[in-house]
Amino acid sequence: MKIHALALAMAGMSLGCIPASTDAQTKVASSPDDVADGAFVARSTFGEPTGEALFRRVCAACHMPDAKGAEGAGHYPALAANQKLKASTYPVYVILHGLNGMPAIGDMMTDKQVADVTNYLRTNFGNKYKDAVSEADVKGVR
Ligand code: HEC
Repeated sequence: MKIHALALAMAGMSLGCIPASTDAQTKVASSPDDVADGAFVARSTFGEPTGEALFRRVCAACHMPDAKGAEGAGHYPALAANQKLKASTYPVYVILHGLNGMPAIGDMMTDKQVADVTNYLRTNFGNKYKDAVSEADVKGVR
């Protein structure tokens, strides 16, 4: 009798657990809320209207407001005077798909926002790349 009750309890538990754990997994996989920076918690999109505002709101948290990067708990490379930005699709790719410690924050931005912040970055902080990326370029990399 005891074993039967235990089996029922276990069946009940696992039935109860299946939807719960599937839900939890989906959440982890699709949500950038786990980013260490609390600024991202409970936000699914960014409302900033310009590349500059996006940079200040999003990128500066890790790469610093002067884009010179930081060393500490992690390595945040300088984006200022960064020759890798010469290839316009490189920053677009990193923003959209992430790179090791950098989350794919482009998931929370429109194509236009990704283009705007890329163009801002590539023409400021000592970067002088005039070939602007378009929304269509971003869509192609997404
Ligand atoms: C949560 C922290 C974080 C945020 C926010 C963030 N980054 Fe990063 N980013 C990183 C880290 C860490 C790396 C280094 C990844 C590596 O090389 O392992 C990186 C790398 C990069 C690189 C590649 C640099 C190189 O020299 O190869 C670019 C470009 C970049 N980030 C652009 C951006 C832009 C633009 C934003 C804002 C839209 C942004 N990042 C927001 C953490 C962040």
